[in-house]
Amino acid sequence: MDETRDYETILAALQEIEAEVRACTACALHKGRTRAVPGEGPVNAEIMFIGEAPGRNEDQQGRPFVGQAGQLLQELLDEIGLTRNDVWIGNVVKCRPPGNRDPQPEEIAACAGYLERQIDLLQPKLIATLGRFSMEKFFPGARITRVHGKAKRDGTRVLIPLFHPAYVLRNMAAMPDAIRDIRKIPRLLDRLEQVLAEEAAGIAVPPEPEAPPEEPEQLSLF
Ligand code: URA
Ligand code: SF4
Repeated sequence: MDETRDYETILAALQEIEAEVRACTACALHKGRTRAVPGEGPVNAEIMFIGEAPGRNEDQQGRPFVGQAGQLLQELLDEIGLTRNDVWIGNVVKCRPPGNRDPQPEEIAACAGYLERQIDLLQPKLIATLGRFSMEKFFPGARITRVHGKAKRDGTRVLIPLFHPAYVLRNMAAMPDAIRDIRKIPRLLDRLEQVLAEEAAGIAVPPEPEAPPEEPEQLSLF
């Protein structure tokens, strides 16, 4: 808990966004939805996982990542001692595209404001993107096969692109990388805290010592 933040007001604002999303008709996806999926997590979440769009199970339950991909996400969170109740989980697009087709640019644009407001309210220390459309928002032009697991600092937070769990389920060969990538998160948070404290104290931050060869990208962007 950050004592300087008014969690009651933040929670009320988050709930207001959820209500807006559930009633939203700003793009054509509202026509086919059973339920919109605003996203969920504790008001003091330090980590946000941002996926693509709801699938069939999510559309039925109104909750993100509750199908097979969600099961794998939970298993990956286990790797770092977290459960889905410890983190915020949501999507760039809040309503299910018909037949799980890709969200269209105009749908992503129409929906973007909700996620941006959620990020502004939650002020996460780390945002992990899951999938192409979420990555594109934070790492424009990046290719997941090249940048997965490579963190980048963005002001007072860290961004890290991860494989989408649904992709890992279709390509089990990606599993070791998916596990290695998520295991970086605790160290990234520690390192961020250290760097921010040093900067606040006016101490010049020395460059990272050379990373071990199996993790050449690990905190090199800090
Ligand atoms: N895939 C996503 O991108 N989001 C969900 O909520 C579920 C599956
Ligand atoms: Fe509104 Fe987003 Fe749903 Fe489109 S996808 S109707 S913009 S909440």
